[in-house]
Amino acid sequence: MTERKDASANVPAGPAEVAHALSGTSETRRLALADEAATTVAAAALARTLRPGDVVLLAGPLGAGKTTFARAVIRTLTSADEEVPSPTFTLVQTYETTAGPLWHFDLYRLCDPEEVFELGWEDAVTGGIVLVEWPDRLGRLCPARRLELTLEPAAGADTETGTETGTETEEGSRRLLTIQAFGGAGWAPPPPPSSLADYSAASSGRHQ
Ligand SMILES: Nc1ncnc2c1ncn2[C@@H]1O[C@H](COP(=O)(O)OP(=O)(O)OP(=O)(O)O)[C@@H](O)[C@H]1O
Ligand SMILES: [Mg+2]
Repeated sequence: MTERKDASANVPAGPAEVAHALSGTSETRRLALADEAATTVAAAALARTLRPGDVVLLAGPLGAGKTTFARAVIRTLTSADEEVPSPTFTLVQTYETTAGPLWHFDLYRLCDPEEVFELGWEDAVTGGIVLVEWPDRLGRLCPARRLELTLEPAAGADTETGTETGTETEEGSRRLLTIQAFGGAGWAPPPPPSSLADYSAASSGRHQ
């Protein structure tokens, strides 16, 4: 495959595409997520690259799939049946994962950025893998080194009803994933598996 120069092209997201997107630290990459399964695959591919100290911001409108993405990251690093509630009300949930402690924040209800310290932010960013929904609430506390992911409905998709106006539900499942890394290198992914089947095998192998 030749190097893709047009970083704004919407390519379908598989493990190899996510790995490729993560390998660029200055370009914005956009991947198409056809349905929730594609979101899970992309999240699992990202999960394999994470280690303590990594901060992943999950932006996007209500119902875009931020928690769905985070859940798939967490299940990849714990177990497939791990209970992963949305931190909508608790604001933070923590997990012990195969890659280290993981903190999942949902900052929608934060009134002031400083409140994040009451949620254990300092410990999270110094020793954990950090996933943050509604990262705009961090304001000036937003870490310089971070991976920014934005999930949004693809054209025609409607996250409120789960359907596209007038047509099939599947259309309402399409999302766009925009990936941007800030603050230097360090997001180099493991070699991409050559197929989804290979990826499943590689992924389950992590937890043995
Ligand atoms: N391609 C997709 N990726 C992710 N979720 C999808 C997709 N297609 C449909 N969905 C559905 O969209 C909903 C997304 O909900 P989710 O809680 O993940 O959104 P959110 O961005 O975390 O919302 P909030 O802003 O309220 O935290 C889920 O019901 C999920 O099943
Ligand atoms: Mg959410």
